[in-house]
Amino acid sequence: MTDTARRSASQEPTAAKSAAPQERVATQRTVLMCRPEHFTVSYRINPWMHPEDPTDTSLAVRQWEELYKIYLDLGFEVELIAPIPGLPDMVYAANGGFTLDGIAYGAKFQYPERGPEGPAYMEWFAANGFEVREPVSVNEGEGDFLLVGDRILAGTGFRSDAASHDELRRIYGDREVVTLTLIDPSFYHLDTAIAVLDPVPVNGHSNIAFLPKAFDAHSLDILDELYPDAVVVNDDDAAVLGLNSFSDGKNVVIASRAVGFEASLRERGYTPIGVDLSELLLGGGGVKCCTLELRR
Ligand code: ARG
Repeated sequence: MTDTARRSASQEPTAAKSAAPQERVATQRTVLMCRPEHFTVSYRINPWMHPEDPTDTSLAVRQWEELYKIYLDLGFEVELIAPIPGLPDMVYAANGGFTLDGIAYGAKFQYPERGPEGPAYMEWFAANGFEVREPVSVNEGEGDFLLVGDRILAGTGFRSDAASHDELRRIYGDREVVTLTLIDPSFYHLDTAIAVLDPVPVNGHSNIAFLPKAFDAHSLDILDELYPDAVVVNDDDAAVLGLNSFSDGKNVVIASRAVGFEASLRERGYTPIGVDLSELLLGGGGVKCCTLELRR
C-alpha cells in the first residue's frame, strides 16, 4: 500500500469508528530512567544533533522531571540509574539494554561516544535483580527492540546489527523476533518510528502506531500484515518524535506537539498525556528514549 492509500484508508469512516471507542485498561509498568544532569549535545551521531547550537542542561532536567512526575502519577514504578559525567546521552535509557523474563540483554553501542553506557547499564541490571547477557553484536537495546504482546519487533538499518536479532532469538527462546529495516536517517531507532500502544494484548492483539516512510518496502508489507489496524502518523507528528511515546495500555505519554497523533489516540479510546521534552529533542530523543521498561 502507498502512504497515501494507507492514510486515506485510515481516515475512512468505518463501523468500528462510529461505535463508541474501545474501553482501554491501564496496566502497571516498571521503568528505568536517568536524570539528564550531564545532558548536552557535544557530538553528532544523528541528524537531530547540532553540537554548534547551545543546550540548556537545567531546562532538560526540568522537562525530564515533568515526565518522571507523569509516570509516578500514573502509578508506575520508576527506578533510577545514576548519570555519569561525560556521557551526555545516558538520559536516553531506552538504549541501555532490553529486559524480558528477568534477563537483561546488554547494549553494545554503534558509536564510541556512547560505548561506556553499555557496561554502566549492565552493572545496574546485575545489581538490580537481572541475569545479564553480554552482547556480541552491536545493538542499542529498547531503542531498536520493542516488545509488542509476545512478539519482539527488532529494528536494523542504522544502529543495531541484524545479527543482534539472532542473539535476541537465542536469549528469549520462545519469542518471535521480527526484523524491520529502517531507511530514513531521522528515524534511526525503531522507537522513533513505531509506538507500542498495547503492552498487554487486547482481545489477543497488541496494536502499534507507525510512520510508513521510515521503513523499506518489505518491512511495510510485514507491518501491514501483522497490524492491519495500526495507527498511521503523519510527517508533522513524526517530526516532533511523536511516535517516541510510552503507553500503559490506556494512558499514552506523547510529545505535546504531536497533535494529530493525539487526536488518533483519543478516537481509539486511549488517553494521551502530552509532555514537552524540546530540550531532549536536541539530542534526537523523546519520551520513549528516556524510558527503559523493566520486566523482571
Ligand atoms: N543522541 C542519542 C543517539 O543518537 C539519542 C538516542 C535516542 N534514543 C532512542 N531510544 N531513540 O544515540
